[in-house]
Amino acid sequence: MDKLQIEGGPTLAGSIKVSGAKNAALPILAATLLTEKPVVIANAPHLHDVTTMIELLACLGVEVMIDEKLRVQVAAKTLMQLRAPYELVKTMRASFLVLGPLLARFGRAEVSLPGGCAIGSRPVDQHLKGFEALGASVEVRDGYVLAEAPHGLKGTDIYMDLVTVGGTQNIMMAACLANGTTRLFNAACEPEIVDLGNFLNEVGAKVTGHGTSTIEVQGVDALGSGSYRVMPDRVEVGTYLIAAAATGGSITLRDAEANTLGAVLEKLQQAGAHIAWDDNQIRLDMGGARPRAVDIETSPYPGFPTDVQAQFMAMNAVAEGTSTIKENIFENRFMHVHELNRLGAKIELHGSMTAVIQGVSRLRAAPVMATDLRASSSLVIAALAASGTTIIDRIYHIDRGYETIEEKLAQLGAKVRRIS
Ligand code: UD1
Repeated sequence: MDKLQIEGGPTLAGSIKVSGAKNAALPILAATLLTEKPVVIANAPHLHDVTTMIELLACLGVEVMIDEKLRVQVAAKTLMQLRAPYELVKTMRASFLVLGPLLARFGRAEVSLPGGCAIGSRPVDQHLKGFEALGASVEVRDGYVLAEAPHGLKGTDIYMDLVTVGGTQNIMMAACLANGTTRLFNAACEPEIVDLGNFLNEVGAKVTGHGTSTIEVQGVDALGSGSYRVMPDRVEVGTYLIAAAATGGSITLRDAEANTLGAVLEKLQQAGAHIAWDDNQIRLDMGGARPRAVDIETSPYPGFPTDVQAQFMAMNAVAEGTSTIKENIFENRFMHVHELNRLGAKIELHGSMTAVIQGVSRLRAAPVMATDLRASSSLVIAALAASGTTIIDRIYHIDRGYETIEEKLAQLGAKVRRIS
């Protein structure tokens, strides 16, 4: 099993290019099932999760090719399977996003329940509630969700009980081929939802209001072909900016969109970072200073993203002062705390959703273990800021979400090696 070996100490400096967003690429790839016409997706990152989604499409009978420019070409004309098997859905929750497109286009779909995962129970009740509101019959049998709408879906008003990114995406996709207009209230506003809406419109859907809490989808008979470039990964941007801040560094991220990162940039400024940006790059300069501790509380967009919480905690662990981090989205998203403490951090948990971090002037290297995707990137940041050489085990979690992380960190001057 691969491990990352990181020699802490160097201040990150230099410039790297940001990859395409995993969390935008996955729903967009699922959405290609809505049309029988060929679709080209550019800037999809080369990550395990994206490969899993491509495998799932192929398993449904879809033709998927990677062209010479590394774009993903999908032609869902040949689709012949309406069942997404447990083996693929269990490895990645986002696989559940094929349900909406399959149901809308074929009137039937059978998709394994994704089940829980390390960061919490993560139910799909809101997805199912949405499909039922659109007129589908939904049944859970033997671990699979069976959804049927033999006469097609019907547009309607849907009120989400809570803000869910995947739920909003699944319902939005299904509504594209429904008969009539769907209005989705209390929808998630994440930039990845905007990207999905823009992709859907590129192939002929009629989606408006994406990026606000009310999304309107006017159903059309069929979607067509098109090509689309996936947005830059704002979680990757946040991770590298925080890593630079934790090491007192100065970096430039190319192909980054500052307007998707408001809450993170503001918190980094409070921590003492000088941040400047233009249309497609962000520059952070910490001027060699130690960061100041900053309180954060996660919430749906435009609040502070849960996917950047662990990384910020790693920075707070070496910051000057004491901070509080409150996680409001997932009930078990503090697994990095014990590992960070192994590196000499002083973090106390108050219940399962609040952590109090007393900044220390230096962390010390230790063997640690990655437990989930974002928790593992917090260990990378802590290892970069620690004295000595840290070995991070189980980095397959990192490979799910960070493209060529060791190469990018090396470009910024880090001493990092993948070992097995
Ligand atoms: C997506 C992101 C993930 C991010 C999360 C929150 C992808 C592939 N993943 O996950 O990286 O951390 O958004 O920003 O884009 N919930 C329910 N019922 C439902 C659906 C969700 O109770 O039917 C709850 C979940 O358990 C969780 C909260 O709602 O507590 C938010 O989950 P959701 O926004 O759906 O996250 P995902 O779409 O799974």
